Amino acid sequence: MQTFSAQFAESRYPAGMAGILRLIRGEMELVEAEFARQANSNVQVISYLGEYLRASGGKRVRPALLVLANKAAGGEGSSENVIRLATVMEMIHTATLVHDDIIDNAATRRNTVTVNAKFGNQAAVLMGDWLYMSAFETSLKERSLEILYILTELTRKMTEGELIQLTMLGRTDISEEDYFDILRRKTAYLFSACCEIGAILAGADPNEREELRNYGMNLGTAFQLADDVLDFTADKQVLGKASGADLLEGKLTLPLILLVRKDPSVCALLEQIMRTGEYDSGIREQLLGKLEKSGTLEETRSTAHRFAAKAVKNLELLPETRYGEALGEVPSLMINRKN
Ligand code: IPE
Ligand code: IPE
Ligand code: MG
Ligand code: MG
Repeated sequence: MQTFSAQFAESRYPAGMAGILRLIRGEMELVEAEFARQANSNVQVISYLGEYLRASGGKRVRPALLVLANKAAGGEGSSENVIRLATVMEMIHTATLVHDDIIDNAATRRNTVTVNAKFGNQAAVLMGDWLYMSAFETSLKERSLEILYILTELTRKMTEGELIQLTMLGRTDISEEDYFDILRRKTAYLFSACCEIGAILAGADPNEREELRNYGMNLGTAFQLADDVLDFTADKQVLGKASGADLLEGKLTLPLILLVRKDPSVCALLEQIMRTGEYDSGIREQLLGKLEKSGTLEETRSTAHRFAAKAVKNLELLPETRYGEALGEVPSLMINRKN
């Protein structure tokens, strides 16, 4: 098994993120080992797929946030329950990705062939279910209804988000309100739950807990806005997944929602791309040109900045520690990331 240190050395983290992860390196190594243990099963095929997914890597942002929030709120970070819950969050995240890649018919993630593309949709659905249920089983060890409630509500909201998104596929008249509702469900609640559970396990007072929960919401929102910009601007090799995929999948994200409002005539081109699936480099250049000229990519970037700044403000209540300081650096790293 590849150790976290080895993965760490060859990882594609932004430089600043590597510094932060070094601060919690011990905890992250424990999370990696716990993930490997959890992904193990008496059922051979599950162990095989579990290890396939674990070894594909990922930035491990969510468990890192749980650990950092815990330490920033005075917790121990490396205690058994913190490591366990941090692992649970990465397992839930992995389950959502496995299911999302079936829904989106995605062939690549983390520069690796997706489970659905390699082993088929049937195996992928079941593996996603297994990951969800194993995560919940592990979380039960906490004997905390409060935490269980956060996790079930979160999973329900994420599923609702994917379903709402399905009903909007192919539409060019998405409102900003609809967009942000889906975004929060898909991404921000999970970030928020990581930070809140970190706080709960540290025994944080209600105010600190609320601020960490809000920090996670704002950070998660900034993170997904950045993801939606990267879908237009990033190189797929660096991104590790197909770029330009959102529109091809029939999803309009904020840069295009704003563009449609400024220039409704672009709808014909968008509809044509979604209908024909033709999105070669010429058409992409043309659309990117329109996005840049209208300034809506830049507007989306500055909205991400606004949420990142709100997240940093949410930390004001916390005592000054290296961990709180690290949480303060995460938002700008997340919006300036390349993958
Ligand atoms: C991907 O999340 C799904 C989104 C919310 C955009 P990440 O970008 O954190 O994925 P990994 O775990 O690093 O691959
Ligand atoms: C993000 O959805 C995955 C979830 C959080 C469920 P998307 O479909 O928008 O993201 P990518 O591009 O596949 O990571
Ligand atoms: Mg997807
Ligand atoms: Mg999707």
